Amino acid sequence: MSSINDNYLSLEQRYLFVEVASRVAAFCQKNPSAEIIRMGIGDVTQPIAPAVAQAMHKAVEDCCHSETFHGYGPEPGYDFLREAIVANDYAGLGIKASEIFVSDGAKSDTGNIGDIFSADNVIGITDPVYPVYVDTNTMAGRRIVFIPCNRENGFTGDIPEERLDIVYLCYPNNPTGAVITKEKLKAWVDYALRNNSIIFYDAAYEAFIRDPKIPHSIYEIEGAKRCAIEFRSFSKTAGFTGIRCAFTVVPEELTALSADGREISLNQLWDRRQSCKFNGASYISQRGAEAVYSPEGKIQVKAVIDGYLQTASLIRESLEKAGLNPIGGENSPYIWAQTPGGMPSWDFFDLLLNKTGVVITPGAGFGQGGEGYFRVTAFNTKARSLEAMEKLTELVKSL
Ligand code: MLT
Repeated sequence: MSSINDNYLSLEQRYLFVEVASRVAAFCQKNPSAEIIRMGIGDVTQPIAPAVAQAMHKAVEDCCHSETFHGYGPEPGYDFLREAIVANDYAGLGIKASEIFVSDGAKSDTGNIGDIFSADNVIGITDPVYPVYVDTNTMAGRRIVFIPCNRENGFTGDIPEERLDIVYLCYPNNPTGAVITKEKLKAWVDYALRNNSIIFYDAAYEAFIRDPKIPHSIYEIEGAKRCAIEFRSFSKTAGFTGIRCAFTVVPEELTALSADGREISLNQLWDRRQSCKFNGASYISQRGAEAVYSPEGKIQVKAVIDGYLQTASLIRESLEKAGLNPIGGENSPYIWAQTPGGMPSWDFFDLLLNKTGVVITPGAGFGQGGEGYFRVTAFNTKARSLEAMEKLTELVKSL
């Protein structure tokens, strides 16, 4: 008989958002007339920007004519998009188009990147954390060291004493909504350079940063090109959760060791991996992503994010009034708050769902460090979000 990858047996039975969805589905089945307000998974609700829609319509039209038809594209992405990314997101930071790898999502890239690293690497993961980093490294059988993130360290983790081969950082953070200062990010980069470690920097929420002092990219820090891979996504930036388009930056000077001690280019290795296992994001989604950088696209996309940020601010205010000590929601679509009376977070999730129909994400789903907390997303409409906060506040008062 064939055998399985036993590492899968160490995973939680279900992926976090599948568990959340299945509890909501069970509730809906029992209460078919109940009204649900979804503030759990970070899925956008506003339509794509008109400039993006127009570019995608045009791309569909291109594919309807033999002269402009597009079949397989280049695996790392079309030059038109790679160049637009460099010119707009990395102006002045010395990143080249050959260092941009367009993909179908930051979730898949942050998981798949492990393919080019040995299973012996020890992985540093901030806790609480986006569960994909933990699950994919568990699947590969890697040892994980958790770096506690709490109020004392601004939810940005203390720089470890020990050497870790790879550290995942995500800012603005999912789930806590915390941001990282340039000074703190520099401390992480210095740690990585000192220890020959690599940082996987997930910047999927950078478009929500409004504070000019907060870095958008790890490459704003001197030396980061020698120690960091950055992940970005159009999902939350431009409403692409269903359309799918993202990219990963692997600098050409970034290397890691082979078993026989040679320094190997990670850019070449990732290119090799992607060209074998991935056929590229669709021409249509890449044309849509390119339009995010057009003058109209920029204005339209920013307006949508501004709307989500206004909702985030109202949610934070309500949670503050309810005495739940929220953080985040200022440069992020996520607000992180304490459960009432320190209630276990899945208990609070179930209680809130059953009493009010409001769906949040329990902190424990993001790791041990999330116990006693819950996450609210600002992606629902302002009106629905306010209604949800009223219901939540009433429930908290009744406890
Ligand atoms: C979340 O809710 O944490 C996100 O939607 C996850 C993701 O983007 O995959």
